[in-house]
Amino acid sequence: MSNVLDAIELTRKEALLALEKVGDVETLEKIRIEFLGAKGRMTEHMRSLGSLPKDERPAAGQAANQAREEISAAHRRAAESLKQASRRSQALDVTLPGRKPPRGSSHILNRTMDEICQVFAKLGFSIVEGPEIETDYYNFEALNFPADHPARDMQDSLFVGDKLLLRTHTSPVQIRTMEKRKPPLWIVVPGRTFRRDDDITHSPVFSQVEGLVVDKGITMADLKGVLSAFASSFFSPETTIRLRPSFFPFTEPSAEVDIACVLCGGKGCRLCKGSGWLELLGSGMVDPALYDFVGYDPNEVSGFAFGIGVDRAAMLKYGLSDIRHLYQGDLRFLRQF
Ligand code: PHE
Repeated sequence: MSNVLDAIELTRKEALLALEKVGDVETLEKIRIEFLGAKGRMTEHMRSLGSLPKDERPAAGQAANQAREEISAAHRRAAESLKQASRRSQALDVTLPGRKPPRGSSHILNRTMDEICQVFAKLGFSIVEGPEIETDYYNFEALNFPADHPARDMQDSLFVGDKLLLRTHTSPVQIRTMEKRKPPLWIVVPGRTFRRDDDITHSPVFSQVEGLVVDKGITMADLKGVLSAFASSFFSPETTIRLRPSFFPFTEPSAEVDIACVLCGGKGCRLCKGSGWLELLGSGMVDPALYDFVGYDPNEVSGFAFGIGVDRAAMLKYGLSDIRHLYQGDLRFLRQF
């Protein structure tokens, strides 16, 4: 009798000692197999109970069951503490490469807008902004679009109320600024604009940077000088411009400004459809009729204005094929810049 009980007690002590010292999962598994496995020492003890004299069996059985439970419990504790230790050591593993949180970056369109404004800031322009919901008065009337004049059809408007619309261009900020300030004025106006338009080169929401200069003795040569400085600074030093006669109700004379094709440099290619030139912006000398609306004296001052299509500028500078990418927020597209 005492032999069996002694043997069980020895197994129990050895197992508990081994489990107390265990430092890794491989050893833990070896201990489990040695003591608790199907061919392990506790199983052996259980089996040997059958060959004991009948009166010794209950005490030996009880001792074996108790030892087995104790060893199992110690095994569970050891497994749990190894797991926790490994978690802790993972958290402290300073040799692992750092995890980078995803970082945002400025949108290609905002960046282009900033780049454009930067060029003009260096030329002495200051930045002004205006509302995206505009009144008919600022968007059209004070810009010399007479009521019911066909020129209003040039810009497919989105009305949001009676005489209230999403501005079709940034030009209303010309009037708002002139109303508030006296010349000299050298301003650029970045902002969103809206028209009923939707194809690969037109988006219902698009962006412009308006420019307005009103000062003493401003001529068309100033307009050309400023815009050619802009083109060579924003695109490349070799980029030249040309002016073509055009019409806007608020400028007279008016000019469409083209830049030499950014792809072929003017020789003619698919991008410029063989012409060597790419359309970039509308411009002109401020029509003196506007000065009446804001109380400037046309005998004292003169000026020029321009409106740059920011989307088009971005498409040409970064070689984009579809303007709508700029407004769809697809990260696969945006991450390329
Ligand atoms: N506002 C005009 C447009 O959106 C562009 C423009 C601005 C033309 C300033 C002349 C002067 O088409």
